[in-house]
Amino acid sequence: MTCQCEIKNPYLPYQMEILEVIEENPEQDLKTFTLGFLNEDDNETFFYTPGQFAEISVFGTGEAPFGIASSPTEKGIVRFSVKKVGRVTTALHMLEKGDIVGLRGPLGNSWPLEKFAGKNLVIIGGGFAFTTLRSLVRYILDEENRKNYGNLTVVYGARNPGQLLYKEELQDWSARADIDIHLTIDRPVEGWWGKVGFVPAVTEQVVTSSENAVAVVCGPPVMIKFTLPVLKKIGFTSENIFTSLEMKMKCGIGMCGRCNIGNKFVCKDGPVFSMAELEKLPAEY
Ligand SMILES: Cc1cc2nc3c(=O)[nH]c(=O)nc-3n(C[C@H](O)[C@H](O)[C@H](O)COP(=O)(O)OP(=O)(O)OC[C@H]3O[C@@H](n4cnc5c(N)ncnc54)[C@H](O)[C@@H]3O)c2cc1C
Ligand code: FES
Repeated sequence: MTCQCEIKNPYLPYQMEILEVIEENPEQDLKTFTLGFLNEDDNETFFYTPGQFAEISVFGTGEAPFGIASSPTEKGIVRFSVKKVGRVTTALHMLEKGDIVGLRGPLGNSWPLEKFAGKNLVIIGGGFAFTTLRSLVRYILDEENRKNYGNLTVVYGARNPGQLLYKEELQDWSARADIDIHLTIDRPVEGWWGKVGFVPAVTEQVVTSSENAVAVVCGPPVMIKFTLPVLKKIGFTSENIFTSLEMKMKCGIGMCGRCNIGNKFVCKDGPVFSMAELEKLPAEY
């Protein structure tokens, strides 16, 4: 008897058309790509949760993992923000609207939305690591979802205003009553209307309670290193602090062993971990 079950090959990418490319910073090394499915059936069956990632392939060059920056509430598109650092990302940056790329995914676990339900959320981001945090904020702000979560506080920092991702959207969020957002830059710049100071210091100023709250932190390692003690001081436990790791990866599906820390595969068991989980692993991340 022939099995009627469909086994999707995890190595086979979806074909995606680049619908829009947004230059995010004056240096032009940070771009957001909005992708649409070439095959409408794929659009119907592609489901993801904030915090997941995907492998994007530039045909003839290679593939690389990126956090999904769009929210599943934004129908019909998948969005990624990519910093140009090497081979694949440089090739991706050379592509334009109408070009085709591959997408394998969604991969990995996600922000634990079931644990976040009913809680106050403190979301802390630095630099271009705001991608899956944008997905999470956008998801929570959706009309259908907002009632399932308590207060939403966002602290987002960058070296200077030009390095902040999603500038227009940040302005829109700042005008809303259902999100308390604090944008900060490292040093004063003329015309800047937000805060000045490093993310850990701003977190200490604006986050006053850990009661019924969880914290989500993503950013450069130095930012995370100095933010964690601040969160602990406010009263957050390791079980209530979550982050996402960016280990080097190849397969993205737990097969090649490139991304393991101890007995965990970051691509499959992560990339999202609570600090309590990370404290049990060898400090290789
Ligand atoms: C789960 C996950 C999510 C990610 N999300 C994003 C995202 O949203 N946006 C984004 O711009 N990048 C993201 N990254 C990082 C991205 O995958 C790398 O920048 C990319 O693989 C580099 O590919 P490349 O071929 O251009 O660079 P390469 O030519 O392979 O390398 C260029 C340089 O970058 C270094 N490098 C490569 N990969 C990594 C890595 N994972 N961590 C640290 N250094 C690395 C290399 O050592 C080398 O110095 C993510 C990584 C992971 C694992
Ligand atoms: S990237 Fe291959 S096992 Fe994680």
